[in-house]
Amino acid sequence: MNFENLQPKVAEIVSTANETVENRLYQICRLLQEQVPYYDWVGFYFKNGDKNELKLGPYVGEPTDHTIIPFGKGICGQVALSNENFVVPDVNAQDNYIACSIHVKAEIVVPIFVNGENIGQIDIDSNTADPFTEKDERLLEFVCLEVSKLL
Ligand code: SME
Repeated sequence: MNFENLQPKVAEIVSTANETVENRLYQICRLLQEQVPYYDWVGFYFKNGDKNELKLGPYVGEPTDHTIIPFGKGICGQVALSNENFVVPDVNAQDNYIACSIHVKAEIVVPIFVNGENIGQIDIDSNTADPFTEKDERLLEFVCLEVSKLL
């Protein structure tokens, strides 16, 4: 499925009123992981209440020990502070990186804003080296905008 066709699917999941928010987020993870061959781990992290840390939300892929990530730590923690997309073509070239699996070669993190506040992010790990382009950023920005309607 190409990215243009994925967008209405994401919007459809978001607007499924009889599902919990948790389940809708999980379905989005599943859709993306199933439809994009180089998306190997897809998950959401959200600001953990008033704390300066991220808490793991729905995800698909290998279980991770990193269910809590302090702001500033790793790629995710940096995005919590920078409010900007972070595309990592080669995770081994990053000093401030939290490894979840030895198979991961690349990562992309896109923040989610509600009323202008950075309240979480979508995080995607790839076992393929340097797979992400601007098309991934635009797709994931769309996903984050849709998800923000639920939060
Ligand atoms: N690699 C991330 C940690 C989360 S895992 O990818 C699921 C990071 O450096 O923040």
